[in-house]
Formats: sequence, C-alpha cells, structure tokens
Amino acid sequence: MNEAVVIDEIRRAKDECEKVAPQLEVPPSTLIHTGPDSSLIYDAHNERIKIYGMDPSFTEEIVSHTAVPDLAGKVTVYAPSSQQSDWKAAGFEREAVIQSFYENEDAELWACYPQEERRENEKEDFHQEALDIALSKPVLVSAPALPEGYRSEVGNAQDSDQIADLLRQTFAEYPSSLDPSIIQEQIQTRANHFRMVYDESGHLAAVASAEIDHERRSAELTDCATDKSFQGRGLMGYLLAQLETDLARMFRIKDLYTIARADEIGINCAFRKLGYDFSGRLVNNCRMPNGWESMNVWCKESLAGANS
Ligand SMILES: CC(C)(COP(=O)(O)OP(=O)(O)OC[C@H]1O[C@@H](n2cnc3c(N)ncnc32)[C@H](O)[C@@H]1OP(=O)(O)O)[C@@H](O)C(=O)NCCC(=O)NCCS
Repeated sequence: MNEAVVIDEIRRAKDECEKVAPQLEVPPSTLIHTGPDSSLIYDAHNERIKIYGMDPSFTEEIVSHTAVPDLAGKVTVYAPSSQQSDWKAAGFEREAVIQSFYENEDAELWACYPQEERRENEKEDFHQEALDIALSKPVLVSAPALPEGYRSEVGNAQDSDQIADLLRQTFAEYPSSLDPSIIQEQIQTRANHFRMVYDESGHLAAVASAEIDHERRSAELTDCATDKSFQGRGLMGYLLAQLETDLARMFRIKDLYTIARADEIGINCAFRKLGYDFSGRLVNNCRMPNGWESMNVWCKESLAGANS
C-alpha cells in the first residue's frame, strides 16, 4: 500500500465513523493493514492514529498528510527498541516503554503531534505530584487480602450487563464501547479476562480486566472501576493481584502493563503498590468530557503463580 492509499483509507474510515457516530457511544477504531507485518489503527473517537511495524520514512509521509486539523491530532508508533535512532531522526518523541511487548524486546512508544496544541500537557505539574504520591507508596511484600465479607469471581458472559453498568456509572466517558454485547464477546473470545468483587449482599463493588494479546503473550490491565461507596478499601489492589495470578495460571502470561489515567491518583497508587514500574506518560491521549487526558504507563514482569 502506498501512502496515498493509506490516507484515502483513513479518510474513508473517518467518514464511516461520522455516519455511525450518532447511533453509538464510541465510534469503533478502524484497522488498516499497510503491509504484511504492519498495521495502522485509526481511532476516530480519540482523533489518534496508532502504527505498528511501519518504516519511519513511510510513517513520516503519512504524518505529513494527516496534519489536517480534523483527521488526527496525535500519531503513536509502537516500535522495537532497536529502531530508536530511526524514530528520533524522523522527529518523533519517545513517551513510554512497554517492557517485553514483543517476545524478547521492549516496545517503545513514539509520538508526534500533527496538531501542535495537542502536545501541550496543561496538567503537567499535577500529573507529576500525583505520580510522586504513587511512587511514595511502599511496594507490598505480600499479596493483598480481600476484606471480610467480600468475594471475588472470574467474570463470565452473563456478567456483561453488570460490568457495563458499573463502568458506565464510574466513567463519564470511556475510550471504548461499553455495550454489554461487546463485553460479552470480549469474554467469549477470551480477548479480555474479567474479575469482579461482590459484597456480602451480592452487589458488584469492583471490576477490572486483562486485555490479552495471546500471540505476544502479554496483557494490559484495564477496565478498573470501584463503586464510589466501596473505594479506599483495597478492593482494586486485590483484584489486580488476582488478575495477575489468573494470567499466570490460566494463560501462562507474565508480561503485564497498564495505561492508567494520569489524573487518577488511586489507580497509580494501586499499580505502584503491586510493584509496577512507571515507564512514561502518553500526553493528551484520550478524549474525556473535560478535554484530552494523559495516561501513565506502568509495567511489570509478574511473579504470580511462580511457585504453583
Ligand atoms: C482508581 C480506583 C479503581 C481505585 O479503587 P480502590 O478500590 O479504591 O483502590 P485501592 O483501595 O485498592 O487502592 C487505592 C490506593 O490509592 C490511595 N489513594 C487514592 N487517592 C489518594 C490520594 N489522593 N492521596 C494518596 N493516596 C491516595 C489509597 O489510599 C489506596 O492506597 P492505600 O491502600 O495504601 O491506602 C477507584 O478510585 C475508581 O474507580 N476511580 C474511578 C475510575 C478510574 O479512574 N479508574 C482508573 C482508570 S485507569
């Protein structure tokens, strides 16, 4: 595919998304294959392009054509660390690293901003303070326990309505669709592995999931929400530790990462306490009701299930 064809595909995807947008909470991302081992994802909702496995000079061409205000304000490239000097030379900035994203190599996340104003993180000082609070938390020496009266279960397809309800109550806007049928499909296809915590009356108190890349054998911990009236009791810390154990025992996956809201101190604390390493910030990455939101990347090679 040459760059003109790729740009046409992006424009077509944008038009399609605009057509379906009024009927959907979040227009779906569009996967555009650019070559045998490379792909481009056009994320209309977040006005962002994600690129995997593409040559830097070809990517530069694409970027030069996306510098139209309504197409994409941010381009992120996932690239092996061996290509570092190429992306630097192409004018990209490294924002974060995901450890062992590829089988034996880290992925570096390189960004460029066709819309210059999107590069500016107006909340930089607050994000640094929030990160410092998280980093001041000591890493737990033993696995967190569930407070008395609560139980934890693996989520199955029948739980998708409850999961969607809690996520909708928690987030005013979400980067992906919260349609229960989509969550059901994620569970059935094993794309996502959910865990939940219930209180003694059977009320769903907290949920989190692991979005699994079965081919690369890595997982992103995501969909983290604790009902407001249950926050601060260690439920999320417990759930995330349980997900680590599930991933190790059920899927033999130990390379984990998360892309956590830089605004939300609690979630950064929860990952820090479980021994995740902060590895960078994706500036103005997701659309939220009050503007763009930046995300912190945390990574860990899990030892869960090491003795089982
Ligand atoms: C983030 C969230 C999932 C945390 O859930 P939770 O069950 O309350 O989390 P936990 O109790 O396991 O851990 C939170 C930790 O953050 C700490 N924390 C939260 N806010 C803090 C603050 N302002 N200053 C210092 N520590 C803070 C808590 O004290 C706790 O640490 P501790 O156990 O050492 O006291 C919950 O607040 C939530 O649903 N938020 C809204 C949704 C959201 O933003 N999700 C994250 C998406 S990336």
